[in-house]
Amino acid sequence: MEELTPIEETLVEKATSALKNAHVPYSNFRVGAALLSTDGEIYTGCNVENAAYGSTICAERTAIFKAISEGDKEFSAIAIVLETGDGIGSPCGACRQVMNEFNAEMKVIMANTSGDYKISTVEDLLPDSFGANYLEHNEIVRPEP
Ligand code: THU
Repeated sequence: MEELTPIEETLVEKATSALKNAHVPYSNFRVGAALLSTDGEIYTGCNVENAAYGSTICAERTAIFKAISEGDKEFSAIAIVLETGDGIGSPCGACRQVMNEFNAEMKVIMANTSGDYKISTVEDLLPDSFGANYLEHNEIVRPEP
């Protein structure tokens, strides 16, 4: 197994702290994420559930949307941490698609609170993806000012 670099270990630690903030009254399934931008910023996220279940957001997208809303959109790695007993994290399809929007080569570190982990990339987790390259030939339609 590929060793974690010091910054990747920091991501796992920060994702582990973030999962404590998870709002999970329905599933009791806590997830934490920590996203590294290419200029060294770290954005954390947790899952936030809702009584209208479909309004729930995953930890990974919380972290990514936080970063985007702060004006940061270049990312090199994301760590996802589950509590021990829940296995090792693995992002859902919607989160893979959102990661793919920003960097298909992004490293994805999936871990748990016992220190077990596996490493992959977005493109390995989402092969033959649909991305912005499909839309490049389209004219952007904008309303008249
Ligand atoms: N969840 C995440 O936050 N990230 C994942 O990678 C998988 C699923 C959340 C959504 C929901 O709050 C709970 O885990 C159970 O699906």
